[in-house]
Amino acid sequence: MASVRVALLGCGVVGTEIARLLDEHADDLAARAGAPLELAGVAVRRLDRDRTATGIDPSLFTTDAAGLVSRDDVDLVIEVIGGIEPARTLIHTAMERGASVVTANKALLAEDGVGLHTAADKHGVDLYYEAAVAGAIPLLRPLRESLAGDRIQRVLGIVNGTTNYILDQMDSVGSGFAEALEEAQSLGYAEADPTADVEGYDAAAKAAILAGIAFHSPVGSGDVHREGIGDVTAADVASAKAMGSVVKLLAICELSDDATSVGVRVHPAMLPRTHPLAGVHGAYNAVFVEAEAAGQLMFYGPGAGGAPTAGAVLGDVVTAARNRVGASLGPRGSWYADRRTRPMGET
Ligand code: HSE
Repeated sequence: MASVRVALLGCGVVGTEIARLLDEHADDLAARAGAPLELAGVAVRRLDRDRTATGIDPSLFTTDAAGLVSRDDVDLVIEVIGGIEPARTLIHTAMERGASVVTANKALLAEDGVGLHTAADKHGVDLYYEAAVAGAIPLLRPLRESLAGDRIQRVLGIVNGTTNYILDQMDSVGSGFAEALEEAQSLGYAEADPTADVEGYDAAAKAAILAGIAFHSPVGSGDVHREGIGDVTAADVASAKAMGSVVKLLAICELSDDATSVGVRVHPAMLPRTHPLAGVHGAYNAVFVEAEAAGQLMFYGPGAGGAPTAGAVLGDVVTAARNRVGASLGPRGSWYADRRTRPMGET
């Protein structure tokens, strides 16, 4: 394959970072994927915006997303539009035509993960979505692959950066709710409509995806008991602090004692300050996993933001591209052949 041609759907904070990294890391990505990754088109809502700062070739922009995913020369589609439609239809069209899909769309996966996976299997294409949960943290792949031989019992974590940022600001500097939300928005953490963050819909979607992968169960957003932080007041945060605790929005996915059902819930909870999750600050995320053989594992890192999310998307892009090129058995010699970085001490 001469090159893997990539269509990018969406050019907001994350999409712009993806395009930048595709260009800036082109040599590394080509070495790791086994072929150059070439941007074939970028679908945007409007063409009348000045996008010079993105550095993307202006001729690549189109408002015809459906036309872009239908093109025969597109091998891989990256979807970072978000929301249910038109994302769902575009992804299905791409897969029907034989393109692999990488998406960060947690709402869609939590609504129709089973439908998307069924379509990917039917059309023999890859579907990856590491960036959909906990931004930059490698989490879904370890749950799905590294722990495939184990039995996961519980997943517990902070999976929404915006609410963690808000609660952390209220706790540490005594900010008001509105002021902290505004800061989270200006830093690019919040969803377009922050209700999804504040009322726990975003965390519930992520919890559904986590539970689905951890417990091999078709969990959707509707199966998640959800309560956001909209009713958490400055007084609640202050009184938790006075008691040596901190308020966090937690996502909890648990297997029942008889291992026949999965309980998934998202709600604010008071944690003692000595608890490791109490030390998760700003927009960071952290997820504890308890597994039968492995015991307790903790995953920690940036859970939101353009660059962290784009990095996670590109990890999936490399895997999907490598599979298309034919090295579907994982890293091969070419992975190491570049040798631009040498072990310490080697001359
Ligand atoms: N709004 C989300 C968050 C972005 O704050 O975590 C990442 O999914």
